[in-house]
Amino acid sequence: MGGEKEERLGIDNTWIRLDESEIKKHICTSLFGQKIYYYEEVDSTNTIAKRLGKIPGNHGALIIANSQKAGKGRLGREWISPKNKGIWMSLILTPRIDIRNASMLTLIAALGVNEGIRRITGLDSFIKWPNDIVVHGKKICGILTEMSTIQGKIECVVIGIGINVANTNFSNELEKKATSLEVELGCLIEKWELVNAILESMEKYYSIYIRTQSLIELKQEYNKQLINYKELVQVLDGEKGFKGVALGINEFGELLVETEKLMDGKVEKVIQKVVSGEVSVRGVYGYV
Ligand code: BTN
Repeated sequence: MGGEKEERLGIDNTWIRLDESEIKKHICTSLFGQKIYYYEEVDSTNTIAKRLGKIPGNHGALIIANSQKAGKGRLGREWISPKNKGIWMSLILTPRIDIRNASMLTLIAALGVNEGIRRITGLDSFIKWPNDIVVHGKKICGILTEMSTIQGKIECVVIGIGINVANTNFSNELEKKATSLEVELGCLIEKWELVNAILESMEKYYSIYIRTQSLIELKQEYNKQLINYKELVQVLDGEKGFKGVALGINEFGELLVETEKLMDGKVEKVIQKVVSGEVSVRGVYGYV
């Protein structure tokens, strides 16, 4: 284990320090998080995970930090990660899968994180495709998946997970679209219980994914947790953006969106496949 101590909820509702052996007592998985590297402050846990992912034997290792100075978000955005306010962690995976299937791992992570949050907090959280977790219309968790390759093969995939736990003050810009577990629950949660629940759920979904090499057995579960399922959404993709009804994902993790197109003078329904990456999807009236 890389770090010395971590936090647990104390009587006065703040996190208190835990030592290494205590942390291990909370982790009941068979692989994910069996090795934990804990840091007080890092630039980004994803950056460290990518480095450690090159070292054999780190499949399933978890990098977790109390704060990040340069947390990374999707689409090149910054991820604000203050001290003692959240769970900032990255899971290293070195799967032997076709590189074309790697993007599905991000949806596996969303399934696991959402289930873990629901189990521990009882909150009605949902997935916003492909991998944001939202509660009451606001984002509580973001996931950034990064991959290193060697000669066209996967060297490692890093799943970076940022959960707002104890943040209660968001900037004006974030206030309308971000929330935290403390804001939603009115109290703090046991951080390691949640980390463990997430790892357990991710491990379960990951093994199904590895067996099938697709989302064929998981798409129904994913779609059940999908916010905006069968609702009108807008796909933001520069000039090519469009509106349509979200019909859930297919076995490749693409979002199916039903739109109307004018063909030979007639309005026809067309199903478009939206691939994750540089595209954002949101409801027609705001963030979700
Ligand atoms: C998003 O933009 O929604 C993705 C945010 C991902 C943030 C997490 S925090 C832990 C890990 N390390 C990073 O630098 N980013 C991810």
